[in-house]
Amino acid sequence: MTEKPTLPTLDDIDACVFDAYGTLFDVAASAARCRDELGDKADALSALWRTKQLEYTWLRSLMGEYVDFWHVTGNGLDYAMATLGLDNPSLRSKLMELYLRLDAYEEVKGVLTRLRECGFKTAILSNGSPTMLTAAIRNARIESVLNDFYSVDSIRIYKPDPRVYQMAVDGLNIPAERICFMSSNAWDAAAAANFGFRVVWVNRFGQQPERLPGEIAHEVKTLSDLPSLLGF
Ligand code: 2OP
Repeated sequence: MTEKPTLPTLDDIDACVFDAYGTLFDVAASAARCRDELGDKADALSALWRTKQLEYTWLRSLMGEYVDFWHVTGNGLDYAMATLGLDNPSLRSKLMELYLRLDAYEEVKGVLTRLRECGFKTAILSNGSPTMLTAAIRNARIESVLNDFYSVDSIRIYKPDPRVYQMAVDGLNIPAERICFMSSNAWDAAAAANFGFRVVWVNRFGQQPERLPGEIAHEVKTLSDLPSLLGF
């Protein structure tokens, strides 16, 4: 058995690339804002909605049946509402509309601002459709601290297909090993590391690491630790 090389430190990084949903934007915010209507089903709805949304991205990619993330998000919500016995079209519309203006986690804008001040390029790489990402970025008022965003919609396949991670390499014109990628989704973090990015897993939810290929460089609880990991 060959020995694995030791993990490189986070130096020689030119760009910081972020997953969107769960990493920058709080996917639970939509159901949380409908707590009055959802009552004690709010948390279960939020969790099942997210689970089905992600499962549908993976399954559709395997099936070769791409539809955009807005469509998949609606399908996931329909499944979750039906499971919980919620037959309420106006609540469905409200939950979907709120998904376009999810709260950003509180440290996001400050961290992006600091990274830009330190000379890093910053970008989002997400399953989100361009319309969804534009709305979320605008709502969080982070346009001025992002160089760009990359949506899987231009290649019509979802994470964790390696072609998704390649989009950031091509778009930024920076080699993978000089890109630091942040995701709170452990499977996304593993896949990005397996692709060749230096990865910081933002383990906001105290989850177990996935048993998947891909060596994660660092684990943090929030993005606040990122500038110091990069030496600033
Ligand atoms: C994203 O691509 C996986 O939700 C995640 O933004």
